[in-house]
Amino acid sequence: MKKSEINKQYLNKIKLINKFNKFYFDKNKPLVSDQVYDDLKKEIIELENRYTFLKSKKSPSRVVGHRPSKSFKKSSHKVPMLSLSNAFSEEDLLNFEKKILNFISKKEDFKISYSAEPKIDGISASLTYKNGNLVRGLSRGDGKEGEDITDNLSTIKDIPKKISSEDFPEEIDIRGEVFIQNTDFEYLKDKFANPRNAASGSLRQKNPEDTQKIPLKFIAYTFGFDSGLKVKNQSDYLKKLNEWGFKINPLNKLISGVKNLIDNYNEIEKKRADLNFDIDGIVYKVNDFALQKRLGNVANAPRWAIAHKFSSNKAVSQIEDIEIQIGRTGALTPVAKIKPINIGGVQVSNATLHNEDEIIRKDIRIGDTVTVERAGDVIPHILSVDLKKRKKKNIKFIFPEKCPSCGSKTIKEYNSITKKNDAVRRCTSEGYFCEKISVEKLKHFVSKDAFNIDGFGKKIVESFWKLKLIQFPQDIFKLDYNRIANLEGWGKLSVENLKYSINEKKNISLERLIYALGIRHIGLENAKLLSKYFISFTNFKNLSKTNKYDELLNIDGIGETQINSVKNFFSVSINLKVLNELEKLLDIKKSKNNQKNGILKDKSFLVTGKLGSISRAEVKSLIEENSGTTLSSVSKKLNYLITGEKPTKKKIESAKALKIKIIDQDEFLKMLNKTS
Ligand code: IVH
Repeated sequence: MKKSEINKQYLNKIKLINKFNKFYFDKNKPLVSDQVYDDLKKEIIELENRYTFLKSKKSPSRVVGHRPSKSFKKSSHKVPMLSLSNAFSEEDLLNFEKKILNFISKKEDFKISYSAEPKIDGISASLTYKNGNLVRGLSRGDGKEGEDITDNLSTIKDIPKKISSEDFPEEIDIRGEVFIQNTDFEYLKDKFANPRNAASGSLRQKNPEDTQKIPLKFIAYTFGFDSGLKVKNQSDYLKKLNEWGFKINPLNKLISGVKNLIDNYNEIEKKRADLNFDIDGIVYKVNDFALQKRLGNVANAPRWAIAHKFSSNKAVSQIEDIEIQIGRTGALTPVAKIKPINIGGVQVSNATLHNEDEIIRKDIRIGDTVTVERAGDVIPHILSVDLKKRKKKNIKFIFPEKCPSCGSKTIKEYNSITKKNDAVRRCTSEGYFCEKISVEKLKHFVSKDAFNIDGFGKKIVESFWKLKLIQFPQDIFKLDYNRIANLEGWGKLSVENLKYSINEKKNISLERLIYALGIRHIGLENAKLLSKYFISFTNFKNLSKTNKYDELLNIDGIGETQINSVKNFFSVSINLKVLNELEKLLDIKKSKNNQKNGILKDKSFLVTGKLGSISRAEVKSLIEENSGTTLSSVSKKLNYLITGEKPTKKKIESAKALKIKIIDQDEFLKMLNKTS
């Protein structure tokens, strides 16, 4: 690239960052997230380091913060308020320490102690005390000159107005952070974008009474000008601040060695979400004041301190499209396709919108500028829409009434248990006849916890479906291998391997098979319970004939929701056909009862009331360990009703009517040759 071209790009970036500054500092309306801002700043500084010919007075490397706004009286800081350079990795920290050691000509084994202080994301302020009295409070402004916000700062309870400690310096600028706690921000959510803005906005109210209404906090961490300060290092200074009546961060620590700094960083990052204030990193300061003085400053940041930033898990992007995905249970899930963006080191281009109601509630539209959050391993989601950036052409999103895959009607089912319509809209087709549902069902059928067919991945399911090689689960066991061998990308060996893995899985447990069917609400755990109850595939399949769905209530862990779902499954004729076909093709193992010949073999139990020395869970596992079964209601099938304190009268009455043995805890334990 030509010199002039590089310069042009550089100046454009500076123009942009100054625009961001203006909106942030003067208007309290940030245009971009901190992450985007930091990245831009980093890019500019990197350009300057790489091309030494680049120079601008307006570069963020020369200007601290931004000029103060016109509305408050301005005043100079006796000692400038500096900013901090940032570190993002262990390497950056090692570099930071290396530079210090080089500067003071010490070897690597020279131990430096650092004061590690969580970096609260608020607004810094400088409080001047003369003879123990608070005489002036300034905002940071451009670092040299700040706004006189004494009256507003005076309304903050954490800021002492008079300090009479003997050892309090004659004159000192106490510096720290003004912020708002997250729980207090809850009430201000509608007015400000984030806690930091709320703090800055409140501090700069024209009328101090308005500031007073907002619960601002203050934490002290450094000082500017001083006359008569008698401490020799940062950790002692922090202790003194506390003695003088200032709040200090409870998570401050004295640490040496980069490895220990990293351990502390990781520990605090874990706690971050549970803190009642936002922190965006950890500040490390060389503890010894004499050493700080020796090291001095570079440009506008001290050589003796650095901010180790956390990676952000939020970012701003734009919705390019809203796609409707169809799951194996027919659920229509809207997904926002967003302009790819890096969130905490991961490239994100999809964000779930959960369901139709969520889109309506947040009024999310194609073209909108949105904040996306990615937390842990969960699918990223949209936190909020920036309505100020909404264009006229961004029209309301209309959720499809017909399934985008097969054209069937979609409905929001009525849930008889919650007595409400589901939030999720579903395709009403009978599963395998809707392409998307069928493909998802088949992916589930071959997945790890189901048939676990080696080499039969999601891509293969999709391509075989397109080629009309598979539509129903049974098709997997009747594949036309000759046709597959002729397909592009398939050799003789790979076809043989596929054939082998499929045949190998023809021998399957009842529990895996039930799970593989993908019945709604029947996950691994429930499939296990059902298979234990039915023992054989024939018993399971016959449910469609016997219609004894209510008896499933006897299975501990199976409730109405699951039973309704099983009932639904059997009411669809194609599902019965699939079961019949699978029965012909597979060798389905009977479910085995672990200890078949225990003391309680063929005996069933039900507990009512509170037992004395053992819990219900323990009774249940004792019964199962000894080959007995537990039921959840009184019926002819029940052999023993175990009663404790305050039993259900109705259960006792029905047990008596059915001539079922009623026993107490001791009698039960005696059956097991145990005493309580
Ligand atoms: S010391 C030269 N200590 O971070 C020392 N700053 O980018 C500069 N901050 O403007 C300040 N917690 O708003 C220091 N424990 C802490 C801090 C802290 C938060 C903020 C402060 C400052 C910015 C530096």
